[in-house]
Amino acid sequence: MNKLSIEICERIKSVIGDSKFGLHEPFFNSLEKENLSNCIDSSYVSSIGEYVNSFEKMIEEFTKSKKAIAVVNGTSALHLALKVSGIKPDEEIICPSLTFVATANAISYMDALPHFVDVNEKTLGIDPLALENWLDKIIIKKKGKSINKNTGRIVSAIIPMHTFGHPLEINSIVKIAEKYNLIVIEDAAESLGSLYEGKHTGTFGRIGVLSFNGNKIVTTGGGGALITNDLEVASLAKHLSSTAKVEHKWKLIHNQIGFNYRMPNLNASIGCAQMKKLPSFIESKRNLFLKYREVFKSLLGVRIFSEPDNSRSNYWLQTLILDKEHESELENILEVTNKEGLMTRPSWELMHHLQMYKNCPRAPLPNAESLAKRIINIPSSPFLV
Ligand SMILES: Cc1ncc(COP(=O)(O)O)c(C=O)c1O
Repeated sequence: MNKLSIEICERIKSVIGDSKFGLHEPFFNSLEKENLSNCIDSSYVSSIGEYVNSFEKMIEEFTKSKKAIAVVNGTSALHLALKVSGIKPDEEIICPSLTFVATANAISYMDALPHFVDVNEKTLGIDPLALENWLDKIIIKKKGKSINKNTGRIVSAIIPMHTFGHPLEINSIVKIAEKYNLIVIEDAAESLGSLYEGKHTGTFGRIGVLSFNGNKIVTTGGGGALITNDLEVASLAKHLSSTAKVEHKWKLIHNQIGFNYRMPNLNASIGCAQMKKLPSFIESKRNLFLKYREVFKSLLGVRIFSEPDNSRSNYWLQTLILDKEHESELENILEVTNKEGLMTRPSWELMHHLQMYKNCPRAPLPNAESLAKRIINIPSSPFLV
């Protein structure tokens, strides 16, 4: 047990007490139970029902998006977002290597290839400067398309991801995407409730994607959504998410190969109750951050990650970042904290280290490599303060 591990344990406990807590646990009360019970009584438990419509309305109002389409999870939302964007097999899609595997998997479902780029330490999201330098170096333009001159493939889209809920510099990314004619799909799976320059994350590109998995700030058990201001895209996404069934009083006709991705009413009933609590969840998580910041400010060797400039974060997962000189202590800190009943986790294994993605095109990734050795997520549930 080294000194830093013990100090980290003690300081986390000084904020949340001695009980065992997961990294991010959901909070339910009678509201979810009441909605679920009403939903069961209505017998509309599958993909048609009033709760699905209400849940979508609530997301639209909260994120100030014209349309929200609720689906079975964030991964299917990413897949659908790529599908309705017309991504073709063998195209390259830019995304960070520091992300959850769903970002890269959704690209693979399209028979396209992830092309990994670096993040920065300021936001933990794609670094605009490094991105532009990289694209300037590798892209040649032919007939309005961006071609990776190293591979000969078209680079058609970019999926920036707002890591642990913290907004990245999305305006700069959108500008670079315009320069290279890339479609922007924001992976906002973790950032419901986070704003960049006062605007909700996920609303800067063509489509934003949300997740309502059990560990997210708002959960429907499993669930996801696409948000967009493009009504045509929204209508196609909704159509494809419900097996591309043509509306008719009784005929069962499907005019495309669709997906069974529509969110069931049962899940949406939980979501409606959760959305009412979202403002209070965000407030609690921001307060939890202030408490952690207070206890960690005097500890040398580690810092707590604060929301980047120009943004307001939902602080989905509270994050400690070790100084570079202490990166060798990561394993010991994880060992000690977990043994003490405090659930802590490192960041994801970087995508380009995973065997299925190791041969994908990529930029130099020095910041992602370094951060992956220094990130520790600590207990972050909204009820901890
Ligand atoms: C960054 C990111 N993208 C995509 C997803 C996929 O969401 P889901 O688990 O709902 O499929 C998640 C969450 O789990 C995520 O954290």
